[in-house]
Amino acid sequence: MAVDLPAELIDRLRAARRIVAFTGAGISAESGLSTFRDTQTGLWAKYRPEDLATPQAFRRNPRMVWEWYEWRRGFVAQAAPNPGHHALAQIEAARPGFLLATQNVDGLHARAGSRNLVELHGNIRRTICLDHRHPAESWAPVDEPPPRCGQCGAPLRPDVVWFGETLPEAALRRAQEAAVQCDLFLSIGTSTMVYPAAELPFMAGAHGATVIEINPDFTPLSRLANFVLRENAGTALPAVASAMLD
Ligand code: OAD
Repeated sequence: MAVDLPAELIDRLRAARRIVAFTGAGISAESGLSTFRDTQTGLWAKYRPEDLATPQAFRRNPRMVWEWYEWRRGFVAQAAPNPGHHALAQIEAARPGFLLATQNVDGLHARAGSRNLVELHGNIRRTICLDHRHPAESWAPVDEPPPRCGQCGAPLRPDVVWFGETLPEAALRRAQEAAVQCDLFLSIGTSTMVYPAAELPFMAGAHGATVIEINPDFTPLSRLANFVLRENAGTALPAVASAMLD
């Protein structure tokens, strides 16, 4: 195996019964999707988030925001889960006390087979209306996007959490409960900067869990983590899964 895991880490991986994996955009980088904060490649390097991912931006310029999400949906539709996503689905299949809390809106975890899954920031492939959150599967074409809700006529928007909006309450609660109860917490491919999701690894650590970070770069979690794997998720997670399960 290309990744050398310390013996102490392997012991803790094997002993773990309640496991939480927490993922961010980094896990999908190897599927060809841009992360948010990486200089050079990050989506936010090219577009100011405050111009695109807020309710105010949508009210000000709904067409631009809708078309930007359409553009991103195109990348997501072409992307496929990578070995990192598959390794997490494999761990879940073998360990009943496993929860995956993701900040990603790309749906790649579900496509890899993860089922004990909470999507803290929504899902870009789902569409709802602005006023009542009516779900929309399809819509009539319009000259001036965004299209309209078939039930109430309000503009349609992606079912994602925008800056300044609250996270889906049940999803956040489920992730927080699992974080404080787990004995092993894996934080993967996230800059650990966007709250309240970023609290989760710190909550787990404060309640005694072994915290493992998988990220090629330093983050605010790096100092607290019991183990840091400076690797890409697509390399480190298969190694973690085989150490845990073989
Ligand atoms: P970021 O773009 O902030 O962070 C991505 C992290 O992934 C960075 O720390 C990278 O070092 C790391 N990384 C890059 N390639 C990697 C790889 N192959 N394997 C492992 N790690 C890698 O993305 P998030 O932390 O997900 O919120 O951002 C959190 C939230 O901020 C997003 O969900 C989004 C954004 O604003 C909303 O849209 C509400």
